[in-house]
Amino acid sequence: MSTTVPPADPAGDPLLAATGEQAWIEVIQKMDEVYNDLLQYEVALEEKNAALEESHQFIESVLASMSDILIVCDRNGGIEEVNPSLCHFAGKSAEQLARTPVFDLFADEVERSKARDLFARYAREGVHDCEFFLRAGDGSTVPVSMNCTPRVSQTGKLMGVVVTGRPVGELRKAYQALRQAHDDLKRTQSQLLHAEKMVSLGRLVAGVAHELNNPISFVLGNVLSLQRYAGRLGSYLEAVHGGRIDSLPALRQELRIDRILADMPQLIDGMIEGAERTRDIVDALKRFSAVDKAAPEEVDVNEVIERSVRWVTQSASGKFTVDLDLPAKMRCRGSSGQLQQVAMNLVQNACDATAGQPAAHLAISGELADGRLRVRFADNGPGIPEANLAHLFEPFFTTKPVGQGTGLGLSISYGIVERHGGSLAARNRPGGGAEFILTLPVESR
Ligand SMILES: Nc1ncnc2c1ncn2[C@@H]1O[C@H](COP(=O)(O)OP(=O)(O)OP(=O)(O)O)[C@@H](O)[C@H]1O
Ligand SMILES: [Mg+2]
Repeated sequence: MSTTVPPADPAGDPLLAATGEQAWIEVIQKMDEVYNDLLQYEVALEEKNAALEESHQFIESVLASMSDILIVCDRNGGIEEVNPSLCHFAGKSAEQLARTPVFDLFADEVERSKARDLFARYAREGVHDCEFFLRAGDGSTVPVSMNCTPRVSQTGKLMGVVVTGRPVGELRKAYQALRQAHDDLKRTQSQLLHAEKMVSLGRLVAGVAHELNNPISFVLGNVLSLQRYAGRLGSYLEAVHGGRIDSLPALRQELRIDRILADMPQLIDGMIEGAERTRDIVDALKRFSAVDKAAPEEVDVNEVIERSVRWVTQSASGKFTVDLDLPAKMRCRGSSGQLQQVAMNLVQNACDATAGQPAAHLAISGELADGRLRVRFADNGPGIPEANLAHLFEPFFTTKPVGQGTGLGLSISYGIVERHGGSLAARNRPGGGAEFILTLPVESR
């Protein structure tokens, strides 16, 4: 600051003149100081203003980016401040809403009095996640989950409340849609499961019918022959009892009585065998449905395997040879019926797999080691496609046409062998064909 100093009066007292000059200098210095202070205050004020502006903008941007609605009210419920979400929801500007009662935002009188009650009662503690219906800008009523927090002054005086809320209508609609989709999915799944069960049952019935058909037609054929034989035997007996002794040799010839007598044991054996196979199939079915819960017994594994081979090869339509190379006296503990089921399925599978081969063959070899018996079933069929290896033991997995395989054989066998403390594994042989390895703990006594 530039100041002009008035010249000293040359005509006056020189001492006085000097004192006056000094006073002027001091005044000027003081003014300089004050001016400097003022400058500093102004700079500080500008800085504070800028900071205030910045924090104001920060709060504004936070409020604007809030998707929840926010209302700041005074103690009587008059609106003091709202965020853009509330303006958007109510379809009004902040100026239109300012100083109007917050309760006007509620859908109807019932909601208003509920809100008044609650806010009055719990203003000091706050209200959490309370659902109210508000009136939206388009006139619709929207459920809003609201929180209400008290706003207090520095001295602890209640100044009003801050209300935040989240419209839950959309959320609820989305939840209902999700629930509906889930229900639909569950229903479709159970329908699918039902359909799958029916298909499986169909396959099982077809398989069982196929299995039973063979022995039953076997028995029926023999019974029909026996019926014819009975007629001829009846005629011959009539002649015997009628005393026509002379004609008997000719009649015996004519009715081929000797042939009948020679045929009978074979026919009866055949019928017994057919009936036994039928019984075995029913037994296997009973085991499948776990009706039969026999106590564990000593099982002669050699016999089980030999019997399985006999039964399967007997009913095999084409030429199918089986080589057995088993150590004597392989024994384990469990159910011979169930292990028979396992062995029969392994032999039958090999028989089916090799059906197209010119020299269909299965080699069954066994060994005893480390308290376990191991039997290998190696065939010269096409082997198992790599993709199928992982699914072989799944129930209903089959590559056979409907009616020829239920796809239960290996899955049931797996369960049986596991229950016997053993294991069942499959692999392709390097030289071609499939190999199934059955391991069982040997009977230790
Ligand atoms: N020795 C084998 N060689 C090639 N594939 C085999 C052999 N054994 C089993 N498989 C495959 O494994 C599938 C499942 O066999 P599994 O014994 O479980 O059922 P299935 O023989 O088809 O029917 P089921 O035994 O119930 O009559 C067969 O359909 C076949 O594709
Ligand atoms: Mg099978």
